Amino acid sequence: NERESLYLVSEHAQKYFEETLWESEPGKAIGLTYFKERGFTDETIKKFGLGYSLDEWEAFTNSAIEQGYQLEFLEKTGLTIVKEQASGESKKFDRFKGRVMFPIHSMSGRVLGFGGRILTNDKKAAKYLNSPESDIYHKSKVLYGIYYAKQSIAKEDNCYLVEGYTDVIQMYQKGVHNVVSSSGTALTPEQIRLINRLTKNITVLFDGDAAGLRASLRGIDLILEQGMNVKVCTFPEGEDPDSFAKNNTYEDMVLYLEENAKDFIQFKTSLLVQEAANDPIRRADTVRDIVNSISKIPDQIKREIYIQECAKLMSISEEVLYNTLAQITKKDI
Ligand code: CTP
Ligand code: MN
Ligand code: MN
Ligand code: MN
Ligand code: MN
Repeated sequence: NERESLYLVSEHAQKYFEETLWESEPGKAIGLTYFKERGFTDETIKKFGLGYSLDEWEAFTNSAIEQGYQLEFLEKTGLTIVKEQASGESKKFDRFKGRVMFPIHSMSGRVLGFGGRILTNDKKAAKYLNSPESDIYHKSKVLYGIYYAKQSIAKEDNCYLVEGYTDVIQMYQKGVHNVVSSSGTALTPEQIRLINRLTKNITVLFDGDAAGLRASLRGIDLILEQGMNVKVCTFPEGEDPDSFAKNNTYEDMVLYLEENAKDFIQFKTSLLVQEAANDPIRRADTVRDIVNSISKIPDQIKREIYIQECAKLMSISEEVLYNTLAQITKKDI
């Protein structure tokens, strides 16, 4: 069947890129050097099945076809791009030419697609290229790292949610195994549902920049809507979990996460305090925003506890907060 053919070609590509990384001269000189400079050990590189795609137009495609893989499936997985030319001829080339490769696995460990990173700091090229949607790869339903993290998520009863591939890998290498990434896509309900099967607790660890902050804020309500608990831990400006894990010991990292993870009300309150604690309009907006998040929580007892916390932190009477909550819930229906 067709989906199975897409799986087979993806698994072949993963092995091909991995072998290229470890065995070929450019793989060793360029790809492996890159990963080592990022601080990844051999063991980590092997664990995550990382690879390298040669800087040649159709090295992978030709080799795959030679080994009997059909162009149709190479094209459907996006590994090969086929372009019609003006002459009527069609030209095929490797999508991931000259990139280090991060295979993306399903919960059960099958290869669904890839992320490929450029090695230069060329601002014109996209830093990461990802596999396109296919019958086996639906971006909105996949979390990078879930295959490696699932046991630890259940055991720790918590899941760290980060932005990128390297955040997952670097944290994992440091010894924090319960970590997955939405990999560039805005977090979706389906992705949260994958975590929901393993734990009710998510700690969002997004980058210490404006984009990371916006993404954390967007994620909160989606998590609350599924009846899950959400904490947010921010990083110093310019840091992400990758750089933080690389530059700190396991103990320091665990301590940082413990000390800085805030529940969503504390998180939203702390943003207000940083920006405009004394501005009454901003205060009112923050209160409304927090109550709006509370309105997403399905469980009435939890809603009540959070209302009490919000009342305390924002010095607003519980009565006013309940009235606001009632107004919001009425509008939703
Ligand atoms: N991303 C993407 N396409 C881009 C940029 C980012 O798909 N052009 C996704 C990748 O999954 C990336 C994640 O968004 O891992 C987070 O982006 P960013 O923070 O910019 O990248 P890092 O993961 O920090 O990448 P690196 O450390 O390799 O620079
Ligand atoms: Mn489908
Ligand atoms: Mn970022
Ligand atoms: Mn980042
Ligand atoms: Mn990074």
